[in-house]
Amino acid sequence: MGKPLVVVPGLVRKDAIAYLSEHVEVRQWTEKTPMPRETLKEWLREADGLWSINNVSVDADLVADAPKLKVIAQASVGYDNVKVDDLTAKGIPYGNTPHVLTETVAELAFTLVATARRRILENMEFVTSGQWAQRPSNIKGRDLSRTTLGIIGMGNIGLSISRRARAFGMTVIYHNRHPRKDDHLYMIEYRDMDSLLQDSDVVLVVTPLTEETYHMMNREAFKKMKKDALFVNVGRGKIVDTDALVDALNEGDIDYAALDVTDPEPLPPDHPLLKTGKVLVVPHIGSFTDRTRKDMAFLTADNIINGVQQKPLKTCVNE
Ligand code: DGY
Repeated sequence: MGKPLVVVPGLVRKDAIAYLSEHVEVRQWTEKTPMPRETLKEWLREADGLWSINNVSVDADLVADAPKLKVIAQASVGYDNVKVDDLTAKGIPYGNTPHVLTETVAELAFTLVATARRRILENMEFVTSGQWAQRPSNIKGRDLSRTTLGIIGMGNIGLSISRRARAFGMTVIYHNRHPRKDDHLYMIEYRDMDSLLQDSDVVLVVTPLTEETYHMMNREAFKKMKKDALFVNVGRGKIVDTDALVDALNEGDIDYAALDVTDPEPLPPDHPLLKTGKVLVVPHIGSFTDRTRKDMAFLTADNIINGVQQKPLKTCVNE
């Protein structure tokens, strides 16, 4: 009997593919253009496993004619491109990569808070343009200590961000679907959404994208924030109504935004958001360090290897 067949519909780091290939036969789409969905469906007819990637919608339609499929795994903690219930209905386990990226995403999130609050990028401009001495006084930063960080989404990454914020002297409040029973241990305080928006100097979103969180940050929400507040998003771009954010920045509802995720992605260089002059945007790099991406890729490979052997996945969303 040959090795199980695993389909990889895009580029994945080579060391993880080499590791995976020790255990399974890998069929990979290596073109620079996205793999056509119909071709992927055709390849899946013979496949035992799928390494999904976040630009592929994984749903009942994709796996309708994949009789041998035993596992799907993806190298990300978020899985808004995956209809997990559709996979559960077909008895297919789905593996994501929690934990290995928690600290790395928290580091990026807090870096955005500090960089934006202290206007690091704008101030460096005065150095590179030879205007060190002439810089205007209105590019002053804002403090972190003795201010309040409001975190929307208090899972592992939210907690990890809260530890960093407290080390910088910030008070941390949070909003979540349910208050955490252990929040007193972390010295964080649950608030309803309105009270969090009203009382935070920095509002930071790190919640998954779901039907409930889609466009949760709309114009009404931005209007409830302090006018000198910073808004940070490291969750998913579609949690924010981007047009509303542009208006909120242009009309002074809030002071500034720092974003790891945007809607759309990639954000076109001529997008109105960038014209506000009040944003710091990075291209979805929350988990993008060599060590963490390697850990995520190898965990995904392990989930697939376990799945095709019909063993429990190391990290399974629908076990
Ligand atoms: C995730 O894993 O969902 C992150 O967005 C990756 O950077």
